[in-house]
Amino acid sequence: MDIRHTEVSDWFHINKCNRTVLSENYKESTYKDVLNSPHTSSFVLLDTGRIVGYIIAILQREAVVYGHIISLGIYKEYRKQGYGRILMELVESDMHKIKYIILHVRKLNKPALALYTYLGYKGVKKIKYGNSDGYILQKYMI
Ligand SMILES: CC(C)(COP(=O)(O)OP(=O)(O)OC[C@H]1O[C@@H](n2cnc3c(N)ncnc32)[C@H](O)[C@@H]1OP(=O)(O)O)[C@@H](O)C(=O)NCCC(=O)NCCS
Repeated sequence: MDIRHTEVSDWFHINKCNRTVLSENYKESTYKDVLNSPHTSSFVLLDTGRIVGYIIAILQREAVVYGHIISLGIYKEYRKQGYGRILMELVESDMHKIKYIILHVRKLNKPALALYTYLGYKGVKKIKYGNSDGYILQKYMI
């Protein structure tokens, strides 16, 4: 297994993985814009050259500078082997001088909630995904 920084040309396989594992999807143009941006931190997980997982985070500059993990997904057969944790930790160390990182998660997504809690993320706000409940989680980095 390999992990490397995402290239813009990876968007197609990231999109495929995203649509297979998550119901929150993005347009082709959004992937291209985000992956082209210098304010993005993104990695792909590869099995003999095939993308089997990804993480995308963006740097937000508001009153403070913070990171927002907008998507994380790994094909089922590659889960529970520590890759989700590794991708999260890579993004955390790749985004420099940020005050905190946030992400959104569904209340019923137990594997993701377990991963984020394990890494120290804490709920700061309840949100709605249509009819489902969710949370914004946050982890302070400095
Ligand atoms: C969430 C997801 C990325 C986790 O990836 P993963 O590679 O399986 O996670 P890891 O193997 O690194 O797990 C790290 C820790 O998270 C927790 N965890 C992960 N999956 C879990 C599960 N199914 N049940 C319980 N705890 C789990 C455990 O604490 C685990 O540590 P352990 O293996 O030492 O017990 C993966 O399940 C996935 O792609 N899900 C579908 C897409 C998704 O939900 N993305 C997140 C949207 S917010």
